[in-house]
Amino acid sequence: MSGPFSGLHYAPPSGSHAFPQKLLGTYEKELWPIVEEIVSRGYRLIVDIGAAEGYYVCGLARRLPEAVVAAFEGQTDYHRVLSQMAKQNGLQERISVRGYCQAEDLAAVLAQDGSVLLICDVEGAELELLDVDRTPQLRHVDILVEVHEHLRRGIRQQLFDRFRSTHAIQPVPSVARTLADLPPGVTLETALALAAMEESRGDAIEWLWMTSQFPRSQDHHDEAVHQRTARSVSEKSGHAPSRPAAPAKNDRNAQGYPARSALLGAGHALRRRAPRVIQP
Ligand SMILES: C[S@@+](CC[C@H](N)C(=O)[O-])C[C@H]1O[C@@H](n2cnc3c(N)ncnc32)[C@H](O)[C@@H]1O
Repeated sequence: MSGPFSGLHYAPPSGSHAFPQKLLGTYEKELWPIVEEIVSRGYRLIVDIGAAEGYYVCGLARRLPEAVVAAFEGQTDYHRVLSQMAKQNGLQERISVRGYCQAEDLAAVLAQDGSVLLICDVEGAELELLDVDRTPQLRHVDILVEVHEHLRRGIRQQLFDRFRSTHAIQPVPSVARTLADLPPGVTLETALALAAMEESRGDAIEWLWMTSQFPRSQDHHDEAVHQRTARSVSEKSGHAPSRPAAPAKNDRNAQGYPARSALLGAGHALRRRAPRVIQP
């Protein structure tokens, strides 16, 4: 196997989802740079909805040895295959295999603190699952979502509308494979090579890599910066600083929070992400 998960013990049944592409390592090659960024960000919790046989679940768990992974997959046939691959790679202690994911399951798993990555590939159901009104924790989570615009028209725009104020959004278009993508050392007749790498996505499929401008750790950092600034103003003036009332700890929507957080977070976000922010 080539690609970002090279070295992964990968042996599901040959009829599994995108088996030849995954075995070659060319699967979703467009996302290789994002996978490297994910690894460099060092998440502690990865939630994968639409985990299938576990390519990303096991691949990322191997690359991020500090992470635990919640793998949601609605087709129970995959559960045994995923658990087996986790075991073959010595990852079973850090991977929990779960069934069909609904908004309340997502809210429950995102309730814990720390840096969180959510991967979502659910054939159009992303609209129901990535709903910040039902699951406000999504505002603090980095999200890699495959957008199935061809299955539900308008889904891309709706995701942009929901997340543009809290996330930097990088669209990643799908690109057809060519012979140049064939990994070194693999020799296949041209038609077979192309067929083995083909992912049949067309133009309609793309991913959105959405990084939160208010991740939980950053959020705590912002609060500390604010408190330090407030203390310093107070010490200099001799008066208590005037500031918007702090929201209750869990009330991210409390009045004053978005504006304050946006101001404090904007500097970090711009420094870290501005060159990659693209709005439609
Ligand atoms: C295209 S496959 C995912 C492939 C996988 N992401 C990969 O790259 O290897 C989509 C999967 O999402 C699952 N699925 C769809 N909606 C789901 C939900 N709400 N919860 C869990 N699994 C879901 C389907 O059963 C299917 O196996």
